[in-house]
Amino acid sequence: MVKEEIHLTELWPETLHALEHEGALLVTAGRDGKPNAMTIGWGAIGRIWGRSIFLVLVRPSRYTYALIEDADDFTVNVLPRGREENAKLCGTRSGREMDKLAACGLTPVAARVVRSPILEECIIHYECRIVMKNDVISDALAPEVRKTCYPRGDFHRIYYGEVVAAYADANARERATGPDRTQDAPDQSEY
Ligand SMILES: Cc1cc2nc3c(=O)[nH]c(=O)nc-3n(C[C@H](O)[C@H](O)[C@H](O)COP(=O)(O)O)c2cc1C
Repeated sequence: MVKEEIHLTELWPETLHALEHEGALLVTAGRDGKPNAMTIGWGAIGRIWGRSIFLVLVRPSRYTYALIEDADDFTVNVLPRGREENAKLCGTRSGREMDKLAACGLTPVAARVVRSPILEECIIHYECRIVMKNDVISDALAPEVRKTCYPRGDFHRIYYGEVVAAYADANARERATGPDRTQDAPDQSEY
């Protein structure tokens, strides 16, 4: 399938829907070049520093955290409808203990600009170069958010990725998980 360049927000409704439901896949490669995928449910895109930015949040307890701390970049990949189980596996198992991409039948292929690969079977891709990172500050958080999302003090690190390439399968809109899905949004406090 040919993947065509898209405007930053062209498929944002589909991307946001994935984030709100099954999740999207954050891919980073370790120093050895071996990629790992982790499901993310939180993320944002917008304009900062005159650049297009995709912001992702990763808790220090994730294997992905160790990888992304050593990396200059990451990719965000949206799965097509029918592959929700892949998001479940990548969101409940760790790359420390298994090769999740192999288990899901997801193929890492070279990205266009960054070193971290994209996943061939996904339908929407954002390639991001890390331009800033900072931690969620406990004292600066609304108490109700701290209580719900950080009972164990595992505060996320926020990575600001400049979107250096964005592209999608031509039929991505039709193949994306849609608002017709009946599954309710899951409890997100553990993300
Ligand atoms: C739907 C869903 C969304 C998630 N979103 C996030 C997230 O945004 N940030 C995060 O740190 N963990 C999130 N998680 C948890 C990680 O995906 C999970 O801990 C995963 O096993 C980490 O994999 P790793 O150890 O290979 O990095 C989410 C899990 C699910 C199921």
